[in-house]
Amino acid sequence: MAISPTCQPDITIDDHLDVAHERGLAEDVLDGLTRPFKELPPKHFYDERGCELFDRITELPEYYPTRAERAILEADAEAIVAATGAAELVELGSGTAAKTRVLLDAMAAAETLRRFVPFDVAESVVRASAEALVEEYPGLRVHGVIGDFERHLDRIPPPVPGEPRVVALLGGTIGNFPPGSRRRLLREIAALLGPEDRLLLGTDLVKDSGTLEAAYDDAAGVTAEFNRNVLRVLNRELDADFPLEDFEHVAFFDRRNEWIEMRLRARRACTVRIATLALDVELAAGEEIRTEISAKFTRRRVAEDCAAAGLRLDGWHTDAERRFALSLAAPVAV
Ligand code: AVJ
Repeated sequence: MAISPTCQPDITIDDHLDVAHERGLAEDVLDGLTRPFKELPPKHFYDERGCELFDRITELPEYYPTRAERAILEADAEAIVAATGAAELVELGSGTAAKTRVLLDAMAAAETLRRFVPFDVAESVVRASAEALVEEYPGLRVHGVIGDFERHLDRIPPPVPGEPRVVALLGGTIGNFPPGSRRRLLREIAALLGPEDRLLLGTDLVKDSGTLEAAYDDAAGVTAEFNRNVLRVLNRELDADFPLEDFEHVAFFDRRNEWIEMRLRARRACTVRIATLALDVELAAGEEIRTEISAKFTRRRVAEDCAAAGLRLDGWHTDAERRFALSLAAPVAV
């Protein structure tokens, strides 16, 4: 672990990802592309280009979740802060911390704000937001942690006694985890919470499949480019030769599992060489690689997943059209 010194006394940044491959790309690809049903985990979408494409997705007319979540935060941040007495915000997957400001503003207005702990894989993003935020909020301490939240959550600094903590997992990111892993992640997050602390969880909600499928298959083709970007990452990082134009973007709502599934479908049979792994991957014409699930929730499912992870749902906020929800959950006393 590298502790990066900084000239600002209010900023600490711990980096747990000094080796780029710590994200486990090679191992994930070896597992995922040698299975009978090929799969690549969605976290590998997010190189620099992938982050830019995702930012463009959030501005598409069809992609409502980001706007819906922001509307909830704008309407209810004050109530959320009042209910939690939050002095510290830990944000998992903080990105550029855009939505975070709405929460930090409410904490500052309530005069409870003390510390912000952004946790993200992108060190440049954590550093830039840390520097901007200590300027914007006088007296704020920022303790950034660079890591992968499937493996480095235990590196988050312990809560400070007397400073109630809110751990936020926003954007619907929890939906990218299959049901068992989702509960495992929630249980690991629960371990970061003291009795007075709360989880703030953003989840997209079940709705008509037309709206859902349009959000993941936009007319401008940005989501299709985002989906294919994972192959670009493999071509570059693992010296692979996926012909991008031969892969078609597929997105559909699986109503039984209540999730959106994204896949890449080979338009023709091909053999792809992944040189770094000395692996040849054969794809039949029409064969698909699953690249993402994005689960859609009901209040009941959120409550059940929380309960399975030792959390009790004790706050539920939605936008006017009930497209998206922000939940508050408390650790169950053991
Ligand atoms: C940021 C992971 C929540 O699942 O909606 C957007 C990613 N994928 N369009 C989502 C995404 C396709 C997004 N998350």
